[in-house]
Amino acid sequence: MAARKALEDQGLPDLMVLGIETTCDETSAAVVTRSPSGASDIRSNVIRSQVEIHSPYGGVVPEIAARAHVEVLDHVIAEAMRQANVDYSELSGIAAAAGPGLIGGVIVGLTTAKAIALAAKKPLVAVNHLEAHALTARLTDGVAFPYLLLLVSGGHTQLLAIEDVGKYTRLGTTLDDAVGEAFDKVAKMLSLPYPGGPQVEEQAKHGYSARFAFPRPLMGRREPDFSLSGLKTAVRLEADRLAPLSDEDVADLCASFQAAVVDLIADRVRAGARAFRDRLGRGPTALVVAGGVAANGMIRESLAKVAAELNTRFAMPAPVLCTDNGAMIAWAGAERLARGIRDRLDVSPRARWPLDPAAAASATARA
Ligand code: KG4
Ligand code: ZN
Repeated sequence: MAARKALEDQGLPDLMVLGIETTCDETSAAVVTRSPSGASDIRSNVIRSQVEIHSPYGGVVPEIAARAHVEVLDHVIAEAMRQANVDYSELSGIAAAAGPGLIGGVIVGLTTAKAIALAAKKPLVAVNHLEAHALTARLTDGVAFPYLLLLVSGGHTQLLAIEDVGKYTRLGTTLDDAVGEAFDKVAKMLSLPYPGGPQVEEQAKHGYSARFAFPRPLMGRREPDFSLSGLKTAVRLEADRLAPLSDEDVADLCASFQAAVVDLIADRVRAGARAFRDRLGRGPTALVVAGGVAANGMIRESLAKVAAELNTRFAMPAPVLCTDNGAMIAWAGAERLARGIRDRLDVSPRARWPLDPAAAASATARA
């Protein structure tokens, strides 16, 4: 509290940032404020999902996604500004997700942000989409550094030590599929509509999770890595054996698959907490879960128990802030601006952009 007062006494202004997200199949814009003490307020968070556009194809079609972002982004931004009741002149900066993601969509969002920054004469912040997921718990729960992050999305599955803004150490990662990808692939093989994660979760609610004893790859290993492909294959083999599938089969397969994922995530997070302690010489201030898969109720429940076991706080942003959204981009932009970080207007969009370049380089060297 005293530190907060001291900061406020310096007369530092609140930051108010417009954030733009277009890396995948959500077009989103939001206005978020950050006080010098780190307190936050989401003034608006407009999210336009492309799910209906892509569902006939069973997954995201990059060209269609980019075009759809172009068509709605201006309206989404205008709506976010209207709901927040602010003028561009009142903003402290414009943040856009500059990657990683589908490059066409990233270009749409970043170019629009550059145009607004130029016209409104405001600083531009090129945000790493993964960093935005990583920092969301500070927006929602004010979590202090350093914390242990489980990032589980459609493209990424990683355990990270979040030590400061820009200081992220990868402790473990998936050796094959991302958890969200495994959910999506299982949904597809069971003919459930895209996006698969929420569908599998819904089916699992009325399924019997002990019917199939699916493998839990890498369980018990010291290194906090993940592997999903063996589990996914086991579900496929069982589905093939049972075909044609009854509604009950589908629900039981989903419940048994989800139970295996819940167990393996809990075990891998325990390994991640050990690795965190080994590396930092202390425990995390919190266990934080982020990324689209963090919207899953069973996974959230299980992680809350793991956090209690580890004697640490558990922070899970509301589901709407776990899946892709503009508020997390605006917040990451505010966190960077608060540290005096901004980008040049010629900053490039990046399809690939690892959070921990050291870990990515060593993985490439090993490959
Ligand atoms: O973070 P996100 O919105 O997009 C990126 O990948 O960046 O994550 C999307 C992923 C998809 O694979 C989706 O199936 C998964 O998150 N997902 C879920 C749930 N909601 C979304 N997986 C399991 N259970 C859910 N309720
Ligand atoms: Zn994401």
